[in-house]
Amino acid sequence: MSIQIRPLHDGFVGEVAGIDLSQPLAPGVRDAIEAGMDRYGVLVFHDQTLTDERQMEFSQSFGELEVSSQGEMSKPEERRLASEMADVSNLDHNNRMRARDDAKRLSGLGNRLWHSDASFRAIPAKYSLLSARVVPPGGGNTEFADMRAAYDALDAVTKADVGELITEHSIAYSRAELGFDAFPEEHREKLRPVRHRLVTTHPGSGRRVLYLSSHIGGIVGWPVPEARAFIRELAEHATQPRFVHAHVWRVGDLVMWDNRATMHRVRRYDDTRSVRDLRRTTVRADGPTAEQVAA
Ligand code: OGA
Ligand code: MN
Repeated sequence: MSIQIRPLHDGFVGEVAGIDLSQPLAPGVRDAIEAGMDRYGVLVFHDQTLTDERQMEFSQSFGELEVSSQGEMSKPEERRLASEMADVSNLDHNNRMRARDDAKRLSGLGNRLWHSDASFRAIPAKYSLLSARVVPPGGGNTEFADMRAAYDALDAVTKADVGELITEHSIAYSRAELGFDAFPEEHREKLRPVRHRLVTTHPGSGRRVLYLSSHIGGIVGWPVPEARAFIRELAEHATQPRFVHAHVWRVGDLVMWDNRATMHRVRRYDDTRSVRDLRRTTVRADGPTAEQVAA
């Protein structure tokens, strides 16, 4: 049986039917999903029973998996999941809800800011695949913004202004926005900013993208306050309701998005009282978007 994709938001989010991701993919299905990703940017699969192993295997059919930054920065004995599984839950390695002042919880609150996954890496993320194992009774929606449509809707003057700009991204910038700076000393080198083009071309569709993320802290050659004010204005433009889709989670949902064409954020929920267990695999992009400065 072939898959069907029903548009949920103006050709930006598609809902996929006719597929059981727990089973090996029938011939042609991987390519059909990739074509759907190129067109939509976000695909939603419902009622999928996935083990971590199967989630990693399915994700890997689209490219190399990334080791999550949380996986890189925490000790093996403090990890609940394999290092290729980004633990987006509010649980610690003993499956207990994290306390209010837990550093991992506080750092994870950065996901409430609009971002593109791993934009703080020179080779950022292509696809993210987020699987819902336990969902809270209220809140915790994930919102997606269509960065191709956002680029298209810029006025001609702004399009000319952004065209050649290079931005600087670091996870320290997004965390600083929330007043978080408790990074372990031995991982300080991971905070060094990387460079990306502000306007990229999406490989699968050939469309222009406004490549924004809360990890941006500067624009090369610009005074910092001017850069941040401009980036903030662009992000406000890009996250207007007409470009945004909210996903309301059900257990068994797998949502797959293209970080090269979208931004996302999680909305608040009662994370010291209700469990939310979502697990993400991340497929690395093919290469950098801009030249880096030497270390
Ligand atoms: C992520 C992320 C959002 C969420 O997994 O990359 O930002 O809904 N999560 O938890
Ligand atoms: Mn994210």
